[in-house]
Amino acid sequence: MTINPYYTERRTVRVYKNCPVSDKIISDIAEAASHAPSTGNMQLYSLVVTRDKDNLAKLTPCHFNQPASTNAPVILTFCADLNRFEHWCRINDAKPGFENLQSLMSAILDVTIFAQQFVTIAEQNGLGCCYLGTTTYNAEEIANALDLPDRVIPIISLSLGYPDDDATKTPRLPVDAFLHFEKYNRHSDDIINNLYKVIEEQPDNARYIAENDKDNLAQVFTDVRYPRSNNELFSDKFIDYIRRQQFMK
Ligand SMILES: Cc1cc2nc3c(=O)[nH]c(=O)nc-3n(C[C@H](O)[C@H](O)[C@H](O)COP(=O)(O)O)c2cc1C
Repeated sequence: MTINPYYTERRTVRVYKNCPVSDKIISDIAEAASHAPSTGNMQLYSLVVTRDKDNLAKLTPCHFNQPASTNAPVILTFCADLNRFEHWCRINDAKPGFENLQSLMSAILDVTIFAQQFVTIAEQNGLGCCYLGTTTYNAEEIANALDLPDRVIPIISLSLGYPDDDATKTPRLPVDAFLHFEKYNRHSDDIINNLYKVIEEQPDNARYIAENDKDNLAQVFTDVRYPRSNNELFSDKFIDYIRRQQFMK
């Protein structure tokens, strides 16, 4: 079997040409991506496209104005959407029982698979994308900026455009790190450190270690990029939001 080189050569694009992406292209990609699997074929998702300058200006602060968002001609917000499906149920005398975490999880899985399918198709057709992990940090602010109805929760955002630089390819863990046949293979300390070496030695990561005065890359992740205080703050915010949206039963 030969794997198509797209899969191993692809990379995240954060710098875009000053060039619009047409409605037709976005719509064609969304239509194709909708053929991805979804829970019970319910397609519990919606996608909001933002291109208008004023609307982008409302959205980018929700992404902490990270350059990948402020550079982009388009921001796509992928939402877990129970609103549309529940509406259809109610007008058909069907009583939806989706006010719980299990149903939100189904919608999160559906929207995540749809979004990644969108990325794959977009990248294979000459576009570049960057996931904005800041979406669930500020999900309610994004919902307000996009005027989302109740029970439509922003989960994933992408910046999208035509690539304007040769984004660097980032290394991956060796397949032995995460692939287990039959039984989970518990790695020793030495093996774990060896598995992560390829990531630690990436030039950008070596620079982050030095710039942040850390001993190693693991400390950059725990102390700088994803510190406990931020993780807990944004978890509390998100839980509070989905509780008010009736998803925590
Ligand atoms: C859920 C998720 C959130 C991400 N959030 C961000 C982000 O906020 N900003 C950013 O520049 N890149 C973000 N990325 C992109 C990753 O940094 C990138 O995929 C990873 O470093 C591997 O690089 P590659 O995609 O070029 O192979 C995110 C990716 C995922 C899947």
